Amino acid sequence: MIQTVEWTDSGVRFIDQTKLPTEEVYVTCKTHEQVADVIRNMVVRGAPAIGVSAAMGIALGVKNSNAETAGDLKRDLDNICDLIGKTRPTAVNLFWAIRRMKDKFENLRLRPLQQIKQSLIEEAKRMHAEDIAANQAMGRHGAALMPANGGVLTHCNAGGLATCGYGTALGVIRAAVEQGKKIHVFADETRPFLQGSRLTAWELVKDGIPTTVISDNMAGAMMKQGKIGAIVVGADRIAANGDVANKIGTYTVAVLAKEHGIPFYVAAPFSTIDLETTDGSGIPIEQRNSREVTHIAGKQMTPDGVEIENPAFDVTPAKYVSAIITERGIARAPYGETLQNLAGAAVAG
Ligand code: MRU
Repeated sequence: MIQTVEWTDSGVRFIDQTKLPTEEVYVTCKTHEQVADVIRNMVVRGAPAIGVSAAMGIALGVKNSNAETAGDLKRDLDNICDLIGKTRPTAVNLFWAIRRMKDKFENLRLRPLQQIKQSLIEEAKRMHAEDIAANQAMGRHGAALMPANGGVLTHCNAGGLATCGYGTALGVIRAAVEQGKKIHVFADETRPFLQGSRLTAWELVKDGIPTTVISDNMAGAMMKQGKIGAIVVGADRIAANGDVANKIGTYTVAVLAKEHGIPFYVAAPFSTIDLETTDGSGIPIEQRNSREVTHIAGKQMTPDGVEIENPAFDVTPAKYVSAIITERGIARAPYGETLQNLAGAAVAG
């Protein structure tokens, strides 16, 4: 399994996703400021991976703190969380992780400082292990929804690289392949950052899963030609009503899927579900640097003076979502009820 993010004795180690697929290099962050930078610069990306990276960054910052009282350590924790919380606004896993680390600190407040520091490291490691287990559970639930023999389209990268291993959408595909299903993946290249062609294709080739990369504007034609039996994508934040924020272009795929009668599935852990946000209109959408659109591999592709839009995510209304695959089971419309029910449910095997 790829080590997307890992706690080591010398710091938090990441595979540098900006270098893939041509170079497999790793970076080790020794401070929480460096962890904030790698999240912001997309050395690590994907909602669940961002969440666990944030937790590890917080644990690292607290470990490095010179505070001598619990009060001072709490002040340092708050500053660390503020910095990390400003890196990327859309993936709710980031804020889920910050909340969980702060809650852990509150529970430990009266303990010796060394014990608090060690427990926060353990908590971040636990979140890492839980994420892999959640992906494997999603795979078990979601595999049954995949065709026995056929094409499955995915958008962006919701694989091992976007999580701590196995993946959400790619976890569902992996589990289906492990069950003997004959799946051919169609990976949208995912302009402008190319997570599909650079990362999803890299992972699937490594696993020996047959994969075709298409540019984003080919998806409709592939559906019309009958090459796509199902679609499965990840999510950065799912509102209480089932509206799904995911990589820009997901909405287009969902609308096309509806037109062609193809099921459109979203696979995401509960750390991505934001029951406090009523619907998609309340989800903040990250705007990224226009250079990601104007340049490809450092070469300018648009004239100077033109205006550029670069929203990193869009929101797919719940009416286009055939099912949401979680580690606790599968939710179907009406999501306002089914997500609430699953939120109260124990994790299903
Ligand atoms: O900008 P990114 O690469 O962090 O966006 C990633 C996505 O949109 C993924 O589909 C999403 O985070 C789900 S990852 C399991």
